[in-house]
Order: sequence, then structure tokens, then C-alpha cells
Amino acid sequence: MIDKNRIPKHIAIVMDGNGRWAEKKKLPRIAGHNAGMLAMKEIVKKCSMLDIENLTVYAFSTENWKRSVEEVGGIFKLLVIYIEKELKELHENNVKVKVLGDYKKLPKEAIASIEKTLEITKDNTGLCFNIALNYGSRAEILRAFKLISKELSDGKLNIENITEDTISNNLYTKDIPDPDLFIRTSGEKRLSNYLLWQSAYSELVFSDVLWPEFTPEELEKAIMEFQNRKRRFGGR
Ligand code: IPE
Ligand code: IPE
Ligand code: MG
Repeated sequence: MIDKNRIPKHIAIVMDGNGRWAEKKKLPRIAGHNAGMLAMKEIVKKCSMLDIENLTVYAFSTENWKRSVEEVGGIFKLLVIYIEKELKELHENNVKVKVLGDYKKLPKEAIASIEKTLEITKDNTGLCFNIALNYGSRAEILRAFKLISKELSDGKLNIENITEDTISNNLYTKDIPDPDLFIRTSGEKRLSNYLLWQSAYSELVFSDVLWPEFTPEELEKAIMEFQNRKRRFGGR
């Protein structure tokens, strides 16, 4: 059973395995992404129910542009469909949506749906649902580097005053605590440019389940694994 007193405050997920799920079912890849969206919807609900403060999902990486135009376009179409269908319920459930990444490079329909969602949910106080879209940690750190350099050259900041917090505060995750639990599905054991700075002390849980089959019960299992870990943060 999950210990309700030791719920992770922030769960980050690499939702991987949509393509392999589709392949297994002899379906086109986009059917896998559609099934993945349905799985995501259930996980968001579950996180709300468990009173988790932050859920951050990797939906599209800066490297995913290497895929076919059909697949990339299909993913963004599904994103718009998801938002248009779910926004009302997300808002009713007091969910606040944030987007991490350079979403302005997405197709304009997707940008419009995203901005509407950010605006409508901005004052909500329940689960903070962060969607990483056109996100990559290296691009994020490079962006922070440029923002900080600008402050230096404008004379608003001195080199001596740069701290780790200066860096954290210039990442997309500013105001979001570091992930406690980092989950990757589909059996792959790598970070794929996700939250590299933020996950310095996250507990990593790798599940062999393909993302479309990652049910709320699987999430509970990952949380229980997290609760069995001993976190030391370098101490004794
Ligand atoms: C993850 O599933 C979703 C995205 C990267 C958008 P994949 O599409 O990477 O699925 P696999 O890894 O090919 O099975
Ligand atoms: C990571 O998965 C990105 C997302 C889940 C959005 P990938 O499938 O793109 O990662 P690699 O290519 O296996 O490292
Ligand atoms: Mg993959």
C-alpha cells in the first residue's frame, strides 16, 4: 500500500513506448500516440487524487523533430484534440497547466490551444501539470546561460552573485521543485535529455511497461518503489 504521508511532491515521467505498442498491435505509430494520450489522461487524474503537487511529462523532445513529418504533425494534432477535450475537466479539477520548452515553434493551432489552457488554468491551486513540449535539457540550460549573460552585460547581475539558484531560476522549471521520482517506461534506461539539472537527486524508476499500458496501478507500483528507497542526498 502507498504511504499517504510520504507521497512524492513531484513526479517526472518519460512517456516512452508508444511506437512499440502500436507495432505490437500492427497499428500505425500514430495510433500508439493516441493510446499514449489516453494513458496520460488517467495518470493526470490519479496524480490529482493522490494530492501530488507536480506532474511533469515528456511529450515531445527537441530531438523528436527528427521523426517523419506525418508523425510529428500527428502528435501535435493529438495534443490539440487532448486539450480541447480535457480542458474543461482539468479546470474543474483545479489543475494548473504549465508548458516547459520552446512551444512557440509548434504549429499555430497547437500554440493557440496551449495559450488558452495556460490562461484559463493559471490561478488553479491543485495539481500542477507540466507538459514538456519541444523540450530538451541542453537547450534549456543554453537558454538559461544566455538569459544570465544578458543580465551580466546589462549590469543587473555581478559574477560573484551567480549561484545555483540563479541557474535554477532561469530554467523553464523555475518555481517548480526538483522531481523526487523520475519514471521512464518501455524498458529504456536513459534520460534522453530530460530534466538533467533538476533530477540530480531524483529517484529513478524504470518500468518495462509500454506507455499506453502504464495504468494508475503501475504508477502506484512506482510510488511504492520510491517509498522503499533510502534517500541520502550525499549525507550519511
Ligand atoms: C514516446 O513514444 C512518445 C514520443 C517520443 C512522442 P515513442 O514514439 O518514442 O515510442 P517508441 O520508443 O518508438 O516505442
Ligand atoms: C524521449 O523518448 C522523449 C519523449 C518521451 C517525448 P524518445 O523515444 O524520443 O527517446 P530515445 O530516442 O529513445 O532516447
Ligand atoms: Mg521512444
